[in-house]
Amino acid sequence: MPLPIAVLVSGSGSNLQSIIDKIEAGVLDAEIRVVVSNNEDAYGLERARKHGLPWAVADHRGYHAREAYDAEMVRILRDHGAGAVVLAGFMRMLTPVLLEAFPGRVLNIHPALLPSFPGTHGARDACDYAVRISGCSVHFVDEKMDNGPLVIQAAVPVAPDDDQKSLAARILRFEHRIYPQAIQWLAQGRLSVDGRTVHVAEAGAAPAEVECDHPFIVNPLLEAGF
Ligand code: GRF
Repeated sequence: MPLPIAVLVSGSGSNLQSIIDKIEAGVLDAEIRVVVSNNEDAYGLERARKHGLPWAVADHRGYHAREAYDAEMVRILRDHGAGAVVLAGFMRMLTPVLLEAFPGRVLNIHPALLPSFPGTHGARDACDYAVRISGCSVHFVDEKMDNGPLVIQAAVPVAPDDDQKSLAARILRFEHRIYPQAIQWLAQGRLSVDGRTVHVAEAGAAPAEVECDHPFIVNPLLEAGF
C-alpha cells in the first residue's frame, strides 16, 4: 500500500511538484492525501489543484498559540488519513502537538548542508558567507529548527560567479532528487533512527545514473528513478 502522506507548503511548492512527479512516474510509492498551506496564496495549492489533489488552507493567523494551530493541523491531517507529514517549504515551527501525533513520521528539507546555515534563508546565508560547497539536507523534524536526524544530504559546489538566486536554483535541483528519495525510503520502511544516526536498510536497489553539469556528492546514494 502506498504511504499516505500530507505535504505542507507555504510558497512555490516546487518540492511538492517533484514529489507529485515521482509518484506519477511510479518510482515513489506514496499517495498525497492532502496538501495543506498556511498561506492561501501559495502556488503549491495551485499545483495540488492542477493534479486533482485534496488541499486545505490552515491560516495560522487567529490562533492564540502554536499548539492550538497544530491541533487544527492534526485534525486536518487525520481527517485525510495521512500517515506521514512532509514539510516542503512550510514556514512554521512545529510543536509536540503535531510531532507526537506523527512520531518519527515528519520530514523536512533544508537548502543548506546542516548543521550549517539553519533558519529561513539557508541558501542566501551560505552565499553571503561565501562557502565553497553548500547543498541540501533532508531530516526528521523535532522541536528545534532544522535540527533532527539527517536522512540524506547532497553537496553542491558554489561557483565563483554565483549569487543567492543562482545558488538557490542549483541547490533546488538536488532538493528535487533527494526529497522524493528520502520519502521512498520512509515508504519502504527502510529508515531507522538511533540517536542522531539514521540507518537506511539495504534493498539491493540499483544506484542511479546521475548526470549533472556540476560535480556533486549525494550521501547515501540515490537509487534508480531519483
Ligand atoms: C526549499 O528551498 C526548501 O529547502 C525550503 O524552502 C524552499 C521551498 O521551495 N525549506 P519550494 O516551495 O518547494 O519551491
